[in-house]
Amino acid sequence: MPTIKAVNHVAVVVDDMGKSLKFWRDALGIQLHELRDVPAEKSQVAFLPIAGAEVELVMPTTDDSGIAKYLAKRGPGMHHLCLEVDDINGMMSQLKAKDIRLINEEPRFAADGKKYAFIHPESTGGVLVELYQLA
Ligand code: CO
Repeated sequence: MPTIKAVNHVAVVVDDMGKSLKFWRDALGIQLHELRDVPAEKSQVAFLPIAGAEVELVMPTTDDSGIAKYLAKRGPGMHHLCLEVDDINGMMSQLKAKDIRLINEEPRFAADGKKYAFIHPESTGGVLVELYQLA
């Protein structure tokens, strides 16, 4: 049986990275681990680790990406919850067998080799859920 191991990260879509960091880094005092541009995703991402998990702030850098459209439509806020799983293919098969709607039919590969896939919010009670299997 595939097993969920941890909450890996919570992603928040933001329209102003500087303003968001004033809250997450400066007011809450969470250390900013990394701030980088991700051209492949047409976004800038900030990573703020907390005890094995992370808050990720994602700001679109163009207006034609999926995340930019999400921001335009729904405004800034919670974007997705990412759960680490030990066997992503097994979990996706299990979800399909239970008629859970997946956004990605197959896992995708990140630059660092981890596998990931998204579950449609229609099947989760409104929360976009990402699955990660670490490399
Ligand atoms: Co994510």
